[in-house]
Amino acid sequence: MGEHTKRDLVSIEDLSTAEILELFHHADEFRDNLRAWSDLCRGTIMATLFFEPSTRTRLSFESAMLRLGGGVITAADEKNTSRSKGESLADTVRVVGGSYADILVVRHPEDGAARVAARYARVPVINGGDGAHEHPTQTLCDLYTLWKEKGRIEGLEVVLCGDLRYSRTIHSFCYALARFGANIVTMPYPGFELPDYVLHRLRREFGVQTAAASVADLPGIAGSSRTAAYLTASKPHQLALFTNLTNVEVNRIDAIYMTRAQRERHAGEDTSNYPRLSRSTLGAAAARDARIMHPLPRVDEIDYDVDDDPRSVYFRQAELGVPMRMALMAYLLGKIQLRASRPSLLSVMPGHSAGAGLRCRNERCITNNEGVRYLTRDFRLREAETPPVLACAYCEREVEARFVGEPTSRALFRYSDAAVGRIDPARRVYFESEAQGLAAGFQVQSPG
Ligand code: NCD
Repeated sequence: MGEHTKRDLVSIEDLSTAEILELFHHADEFRDNLRAWSDLCRGTIMATLFFEPSTRTRLSFESAMLRLGGGVITAADEKNTSRSKGESLADTVRVVGGSYADILVVRHPEDGAARVAARYARVPVINGGDGAHEHPTQTLCDLYTLWKEKGRIEGLEVVLCGDLRYSRTIHSFCYALARFGANIVTMPYPGFELPDYVLHRLRREFGVQTAAASVADLPGIAGSSRTAAYLTASKPHQLALFTNLTNVEVNRIDAIYMTRAQRERHAGEDTSNYPRLSRSTLGAAAARDARIMHPLPRVDEIDYDVDDDPRSVYFRQAELGVPMRMALMAYLLGKIQLRASRPSLLSVMPGHSAGAGLRCRNERCITNNEGVRYLTRDFRLREAETPPVLACAYCEREVEARFVGEPTSRALFRYSDAAVGRIDPARRVYFESEAQGLAAGFQVQSPG
């Protein structure tokens, strides 16, 4: 498979809605008899490169490839890989993708790592979770479960609860829910709200509007997550378009998606009052037909006596991970064809790349960690924002660029200066502050 034709899954945005729905049907077929497909990927090798702990994601990928008749090689303990000797992710995937393996699944603690792997590997790369950024295959399992349970995704009312800031599963899930036309009710543990860059993307790409939400009493949850918000997409599903969205009353809930506190990414924040879903939560009238979801691992946020309730589907989510991942890999390897077309713009495509003067503000971004040694900074200019907004092409964190430089004369201007309009857009160098521009050797010019 050549470099230009390979398909990666870095973000859930790398699959179109029609592709996802068609993959569900293939997953159903695989699931009908998991043992009937051992010729489909015979001779294919998958490598799992997991630089962070994992149980379900890695094992379900490995099981999926074995059930498809392929082979599996794995580097699951970073202490036993050359990363501990200082090898970069870029070098590792260049070596492993090719004669060692035909497809890679990568999990890494740094935000944006999956994009780095996709750029450097010659074979398809699947993001198995990159820092707090995205976890698209968990979202496929979550959507598939919801679709099987409810028969549709459009128009569902889905409550997201807990640590929405650092849960990568939540971020990928939000984008997909908005795209499918589901309504999202966020009930974050205070201080763990959805990050701004996720909200901005929801607004920009799906026309998501946000309003305050009053949620029917949900014992165990409502008290500890005080700031419910209602997120509804206005495109492409015009049905959900509200004209005056101020305070939405949520009386029917189709799913409650609970997440654990992502302690490995916290900086000592207090989570002593973290929400906890119990039988009494399920006793609420609004939750009568709700499905209880969780990407697992569960810590304390769902009581064990909820497990027997027929509305609890978290173990089903994990079980469906095998046929779902079989379908995904068979597709990316070209072993099954879909009628659906691809998304018009894959998330991995470099957009208008600019902003060499900038540094990503996200300290967990791979460009500020191992990538310092070899990655060129890459920011994409958001259209029509004033002052200009640029997003890191790896982790998507946004920065406002209030100063713009001309690289030959090394002249530095305020973004609003008329002189900026005379600099070829492809040559503009963006800075967050005057000091940053001066430090890079640019000189302030009087307004022109
Ligand atoms: C999730 C992850 O790793 O992000 N686990 C998983 O893959 N099912 C969720 C979590 O760790 O909380």
